[in-house]
Amino acid sequence: MAKTYSIAIDGPAGAGKSTMAKRLAKELGYQYVDTGAIYRTVAYFLDLWGVSPKDIDGITRYIDELTIGIEYDADGLQHMIMNGMDVTDDIRTQDISQKASLVSAHKVVRDVLLDMQRQVAREHNVIMDGRDIGTVVLPNADVKIFLSASAEIRAKRRFDELMAKGQTTTFEQVLKDVKQRDYQDTHREIAPLKQAHDAVLVDSSNLDIDGVVAAIKAVAAGKIPV
Ligand code: DC
Repeated sequence: MAKTYSIAIDGPAGAGKSTMAKRLAKELGYQYVDTGAIYRTVAYFLDLWGVSPKDIDGITRYIDELTIGIEYDADGLQHMIMNGMDVTDDIRTQDISQKASLVSAHKVVRDVLLDMQRQVAREHNVIMDGRDIGTVVLPNADVKIFLSASAEIRAKRRFDELMAKGQTTTFEQVLKDVKQRDYQDTHREIAPLKQAHDAVLVDSSNLDIDGVVAAIKAVAAGKIPV
């Protein structure tokens, strides 16, 4: 099988991973894989069945009933298919963000999704973003980036996004949620969010999207064919 290239982007919520990764994927002709959306789909599914994201017995019982599909539309946008239903928009709420963070701490969930993510990277050149891509999912990725920014700036970005979608919340609430998710994602036992030893840290606090893309291209130069 021909060698596929992979770019792993990890970092906390709101660091700008998906905006940047989508753009870079388009420029390079790579497949963009938003792994957070996969965890969100699991959280959404369990929520529909009334299973608490902390209920490990319930999760273990229900997880086999879930089939997750990842599809791409003509613009290269990733769609999440839950048992045949497109849930791409439904998974983008504050409530599902929190539940995805809790659900993702369980080994049974991470094990199921690990194979799925590795399979995509075996078949395609990918830019994959998440929390454990450089450390666990693709430890041999050709390029590894840890993208971060201050909690306040990340919360402001999330708040603006939610407002644009017409969701009602306050900046203070979004900041509280961002900090809580940071804590949960970095303190879980399995595959916690952390910078891989060989990842390059990019701080997006004072960079716009062009600046972030340029910084990442500079890191990738010489490591992937362009
Ligand atoms: O990237 P996101 O905000 O859509 O991710 C939602 C949650 O999913 C996040 O708080 C933690 C979890 N997640 C994970 O544990 N590992 C990943 N690779 C991606 C997301």
